[in-house]
This record gives sequence, C-alpha cells and structure tokens, in this order.
Amino acid sequence: MVGTPQRRVAVFGAGYIGLVTGVCLAEFGHRVVFRDIDPEKIRILRSGEVPIYEPGLSEMMVRNKERLTFTLDLREALDGAEIAYVCVDTPPSASGDADLSRVWAVVKSLEGAAHLRAVVVKSTVPVGTGTRVRAVLDAAGLAHVGYASNPEFTAEGTAVNDFLHPDRVVVGASDEATARLISDLHEGVDGPVVMMDVRSAEMVKLASNALLATKISFINEIATLCEKTGADVEEVAHAVGLDHRLGRHFLRPGIGWGGSCFPKDSEALRQLANNTGYHLQLLSAVIEVNNLQKRRAIQRLKDELGTLVGARVALLGLTFKPGTDDMREAPSTVLATRLLAEGAEVRCWDPMARTAEAEPWTSTSRHATPESAVDGADAAIVVTEWPQLKEVDWAQAAWAMRRPVFYDGRNLLDPAGMRALGFTYISVGRP
Ligand code: UDX
Repeated sequence: MVGTPQRRVAVFGAGYIGLVTGVCLAEFGHRVVFRDIDPEKIRILRSGEVPIYEPGLSEMMVRNKERLTFTLDLREALDGAEIAYVCVDTPPSASGDADLSRVWAVVKSLEGAAHLRAVVVKSTVPVGTGTRVRAVLDAAGLAHVGYASNPEFTAEGTAVNDFLHPDRVVVGASDEATARLISDLHEGVDGPVVMMDVRSAEMVKLASNALLATKISFINEIATLCEKTGADVEEVAHAVGLDHRLGRHFLRPGIGWGGSCFPKDSEALRQLANNTGYHLQLLSAVIEVNNLQKRRAIQRLKDELGTLVGARVALLGLTFKPGTDDMREAPSTVLATRLLAEGAEVRCWDPMARTAEAEPWTSTSRHATPESAVDGADAAIVVTEWPQLKEVDWAQAAWAMRRPVFYDGRNLLDPAGMRALGFTYISVGRP
C-alpha cells in the first residue's frame, strides 16, 4: 500500500482467525510469518494448501505468497518481527472461564525478540487480560514494547470480506504510539478504526457477541410464543426488523446458535461477571433459551412419533451454519447425542462438515445425499440451512420415508407446500 510502511508481523496461531488476519495483512503489503505448534498444519500451509475452508482465503494466499512464511520455529517467527499478533484459541476451561494457557505460552515466548514494537491480542480474552500481559512483558525485559487489544468481529464463511470491509476495527492500546502503529497496519481496510483503552476493547468483543446471541434467543422465544398463539414469527421478525432502531439482522429464528464464538464467549462473559460477584441475569436466560431450543425439537419429534426408541432420524446439515465445514458447538451434535440417548438411530447428511473423532455417530451414519439420508427414515430434521436442501425432490422423499415427519429447524421450506406433499411438517414459530 503506497505511503504505509510495510511491517513485519508474526502471527501466532494459524487457525481461522490467525490465517484470515495474517493473509489480509499480507494483502495490504506487510510481510507475515505464521507460527503454529501443529506440524501438520504448517506442512499443509507450506505446500500452498489452506487447512480450513474460508471463501477467498486460498486465492488471497496464492496472490501474496511472496510475503507469507509458515514455521514451527519460534526464533524464525520472531526474527525481525515488529508486531506479534496473538491469534491462538481460548477454549472454555473446566470452570467455564476462558482457558488462556495458549495465550500465556505465546506471550512468555517473546522474551528476547529484538525488533518487537507491539504485542497485539486478537484472541477473545476476559477483560483485564491486557493488564496481566503487560506485567509479563515488563518482567521479560519488554517494557518498551507496546500492547494492544484488537478483537475480531469476522464471521466464518465471510471472514475475508468482513476483515477487508468491517463495520469497525477496534484498537485498545495503552499508549498513543502503539494505537497509531496498529491503526496504520490496517490502512487498506474499508471501515473506521475506533481507538479506546485496552479493557474497553476487550469488553466490546464480549458485549457484541452477547448482544447478537441475545437477538437470536429473543426471536426464538417469540417464535415459541407464536406457536402457542397462532402468529407467524417470520412475519413478526420481518416487521420488527424494519425498525431501524432494532435492525433486521440476527432475527432469524431456528434451532439455536452454535459455532466457535457465541457459546464459548457468552459463557466466558457470564463467568467473568460471576467472578466479580455479579450475576448477568439476561445473558444467563439467553444461554438457557438456546439450550432449550434444541431439546424442544427432540420433544416435538417424540410427541409425533410416540417414542424415539428404534426411530430412524435423519439430521440434514451438521455444521453450525451453512458455508463452513466447522462443527464446533454445532446444534447437530446435541441433537444426535440426545436422539441416541433416547434410543433412536441417527443418520445424517452434510456437504462439507469436517467431522472428527469427537462425533463418532457420523462415521457410520453419514450419507452422500439428503435423499439417501431420509430414505426409510421416520423423521428428518433440517439442522443447517444448506441451499442444496431446497433442491431436493421432497415429493419423492415423502414416499421414501417410513414416516414423513419433518422438523424444519431453520424454516427453510414452505409449510403449505411440504404439507401438500404429505409431510407432517413442523417448523419454528410458524403456524
Ligand atoms: C460470530 C459473530 O457473528 C462474529 O462477529 C464473531 O467474530 C464470531 O462469532 P460466526 O460464529 O462465524 O460469527 O457465525 P454467525 O453467522 O454469527 O452465526 C452464529 C450462529 O448463530 C449460527 O449457529 C447461526 O446459525 C446462528 N444464527 C445467526 C441464528 O440462529 N439466527 C440468526 O439470525 C443469525
């Protein structure tokens, strides 16, 4: 980018967030070295492949390959690095608080980095983490190195676009020079940079995700009430969303939110509050409504089928949302576990899900097409709104099912049309 100094950036953690951040920074002209502790990931990246599915990322990586390096070696990562980006994961610990062990491992490894000017944490961390990082840096002889919190707001499936065209870039820094350095690093981004103190920046991330999750749980509760009163939640959400003070986004009712951020971050925020002695009542209810949403689906099937013992249930879609291969905290895992516990037989279909050892039920029951998954089934559940499901010949599928009970957990299909085909069609909040 003309006029912007090209920086040398070391990105720690080559997961979804690290890769998108680093590759986009390379697109702006910076030199980026990724350091990860997973040899397989580094091997794949060095061979020019991308270990995750994220639209646009692969092409951008190829375009900027001269500026991108991948390493397992800490010294190589820090050699000449001016800015260290911490993008490691912060999974929930046994107590529900974020587990920061990977963040600490990175921060402690920075000692002796001669050219370092700033450490930036992008990982989602509890408010107050920056102060603790500052103390570790000071103790490691890095008191001259600046610190910034630069939370990410990118959503999977649109992460590259979200990075390049954000609603805002949040930079929380303790000193002006660091704030300016990180702000300048983002020159090329099509959106405002909002600067603030470190703690506020840490809170923006947690509060944003909690409010988004709140909107979804809110509309899901209204959907339940619509079912009881005969209103149509789709009409309600549409008209509610037209009020510019409320906004139309994140008012899609469904089987519940999942993914790598909402479940983990909402629980982490709840625990952060608990640790201060304050109980976030609203957020606790938001989480509870989301848990219920999945269990209600199972109960509805039980009501229709009489019993789930021996019932064949097809899960259509496994990922936590379409357009990704990510299974983290996907509602499908809760549904499958509950169905198996009730004595049902689970079969499934998904065009992209990266299923693992953690989901043993997918290994024997995964079908190549939705048609084959529902063939002979007693019930089907739309768990993920993959567009392919709109193309299925549902008339044929209704015949092929043992009992055509259909729970549309994403309100993807037309209720009247599905009923006309002979389905016992249930959806979320629609009459
Ligand atoms: C989210 C945030 O959007 C992003 O800003 C943050 O950085 C990470 O967490 P992501 O998890 O990738 O991103 O997915 P998102 O598109 O936000 O969807 C999250 C979940 O909510 C999905 O399970 C989705 O199906 C569900 N959802 C979303 C709804 O049920 N209804 C909606 O109206 C919107």
